Amino acid sequence: MSNRLVCICNMVSEQEIINELKKGALDTSDIQYATRAGTSCGKCLMTIDQIVEEYHASQPQDSQGRLNL
Ligand code: FES
Repeated sequence: MSNRLVCICNMVSEQEIINELKKGALDTSDIQYATRAGTSCGKCLMTIDQIVEEYHASQPQDSQGRLNL
């Protein structure tokens, strides 16, 4: 896990995004609401999408494919 800066406009790091995902953020909109990342120029939105996807892909799922949070 890195502490690289993802959103330069709003000074949001990858770690802050991961922290929001751990608290229950489900998608990029939740991350935008919680951290303001991606709410200015929008150039970081694809990176945020990627972090969200990778995080959820790494989470255990139950037998019906639901996230086991
Ligand atoms: S770099 Fe994230 S909104 Fe501009």
